Amino acid sequence: MGTTILGIESSCDDTAAAVVEDGYILSNVVANQQVHKQYGGVVPELASRAHQQNIIPVVDMAMADAGKKLSDLSAVAYTRGPGLIGALLVGSSFSKGLSLALNIPLIDVNHLQAHILALFLRRKEDQSPAPPFPFLCLLVSGGHTQLVVVKRHLEMEIIGQTIDDAAGEAFDKCAKVMDLPYPGGPLIDSYAREGNPRAFAFAKPVVKGHDFSFSGLKTSFLYFLRDRIRQEPDFLEKNMKDLCASLQQAIVDILISKLRRASEETGIAEIALAGGVSANSGLRETLITVGRKYHWNLYIPEIQYATDNAAMIAIAGYHKYLQQQFSSHAITPVARFDEL
Ligand code: KG4
Ligand code: ZN
Repeated sequence: MGTTILGIESSCDDTAAAVVEDGYILSNVVANQQVHKQYGGVVPELASRAHQQNIIPVVDMAMADAGKKLSDLSAVAYTRGPGLIGALLVGSSFSKGLSLALNIPLIDVNHLQAHILALFLRRKEDQSPAPPFPFLCLLVSGGHTQLVVVKRHLEMEIIGQTIDDAAGEAFDKCAKVMDLPYPGGPLIDSYAREGNPRAFAFAKPVVKGHDFSFSGLKTSFLYFLRDRIRQEPDFLEKNMKDLCASLQQAIVDILISKLRRASEETGIAEIALAGGVSANSGLRETLITVGRKYHWNLYIPEIQYATDNAAMIAIAGYHKYLQQQFSSHAITPVARFDEL
């Protein structure tokens, strides 16, 4: 019998469960929480309650889609952090209970490491190559922006990260300034497709080394918009597509220029994207163009494995299972992780 891992993800506003067997995906179920939309951001207490309502049906569905019974499971892997503590507690308590009831190992997973390990997710029939070690990964999510040298599945080194906002936060906060609903990233992406990315220019940050900064761009965008609306009240409505395209280009330019420098300095040309913002079409297209110029081999996750999901938790759990890295039931969730 194979090694069958159930993954559970509940770090923010998606309740997710997935089954991976011998490193291959059997199922991947995500329940998005719509309750936060009306508040313009994730409300932690509402997220915890929704996780509690969703977790059993989501796990049942993941098991059924995989064609597996609970007694087939080798281990249960869950997100320990980073994330919202109340939300994490739902997934961790559920996973601990299941591991005790089934008498199988419990595996705690770092959500950020899992975003990177999503690059190894495959269905059995999918022959696309996984990134070879070492590779350089740009991890861009709602809460994090990091440049990571991935040496082995469970050995990663952060060489740069944001000193203020994350790239996803820059998208979401600027979307809020434009009165777009949360999360604004995907909406900016869709408006940007029809706009001119060179219509407007915003402040470019100057940050040392491999680190990033996005708070200056956000402020520059806010002041620019406020001044133009003062002169022309319907400026926003008239220029929405160009504003989104120009803002997206500015964020993509910051990310790609740091990636280029990191590739040059590390000598690594195996380049990967991970995290929710890697769903952005402008980032994907620019990376492909720049990658061709610099002869990079690119690894870009499918969108369903780029945004929050549990298949990435299950594959991370699988690699920890192979190394017998099991978790004590005494371990508690953590809101932050400073290392990978
Ligand atoms: O990785 P993720 O699903 O959750 C975190 O771990 O944070 O990332 C969510 C972030 C949000 O900020 C969301 O706006 C952004 O990813 N995002 C996008 C796109 N899809 C998701 N940003 C820009 N363009 C997109 N297409
Ligand atoms: Zn995430």
